[in-house]
Amino acid sequence: MSSLLATLDAIEREPAAVALRTRSYELLGDLTGRTVVDVGCGGGRAVAELAERGAHAVGVDLDPEMIAVARERWPAGVFQVGDACALPLETGSASHYRADKVLHVLEDPARAVAEARRVLAPGGRAVLLGQDWDMIAIDSDEPETTRRLVHAKADSLPSPRIARGYRNLLLDAGFTDPIVEVHTGVFTGDTALDLVKRITDEESWLAEQAARARANRILVVVPIFLVAAQA
Ligand SMILES: C[S@@+](CC[C@H](N)C(=O)[O-])C[C@H]1O[C@@H](n2cnc3c(N)ncnc32)[C@H](O)[C@@H]1O
Repeated sequence: MSSLLATLDAIEREPAAVALRTRSYELLGDLTGRTVVDVGCGGGRAVAELAERGAHAVGVDLDPEMIAVARERWPAGVFQVGDACALPLETGSASHYRADKVLHVLEDPARAVAEARRVLAPGGRAVLLGQDWDMIAIDSDEPETTRRLVHAKADSLPSPRIARGYRNLLLDAGFTDPIVEVHTGVFTGDTALDLVKRITDEESWLAEQAARARANRILVVVPIFLVAAQA
């Protein structure tokens, strides 16, 4: 299993992450019999959960290995390899669109949101959710190093601050009536340690975080933006 998938698996089991996914489904509105595309679906849990709620859910991911894992985990699910910027869906064929922790990895998130607008039928809803990588707070005895490492990680990503831009992206693509929520992910223990290892491989700084984890003193706080709008 890839280290990204292992981290995602750990995060998605956290009660706050379960609540956040549930909130994202609520913001889509009526799901029964609706076609919902979950873009950048990763291991596919959201697709399975949307199907449980009565949707015809389709998971799309650029990575064939993610799609293979999703198909293995959720044999009843519908999963397709595809690009967020060129979705394998007809124009106007979906009722709802969801992208969770995806737009920050794209060079041109506006293209993906334009594509969301294309595949949605009039009145359909889009929900974007994800973290702002410049706003992550980590308790540390080395605050300046921590700030440098968090910013270095953000700078390594194509679109690190796109979450704070979701509302404007949706409006610019022609969506209306945006709802903006910011939830706070609070991570401790092994999940927090997994997260800081994804931020840096700087050994001395990680050693302090590992010692904190062993002593139950590790704390990582991540603001997560959740924005819904109507097509
Ligand atoms: C951080 S993971 C999030 C996965 C899942 N949405 C979740 O919340 O656990 C980002 C996912 O986006 C996928 N991805 C990256 N670029 C993509 C693109 N251009 N089109 C579709 N999926 C993409 C990756 O393969 C990965 O599965």
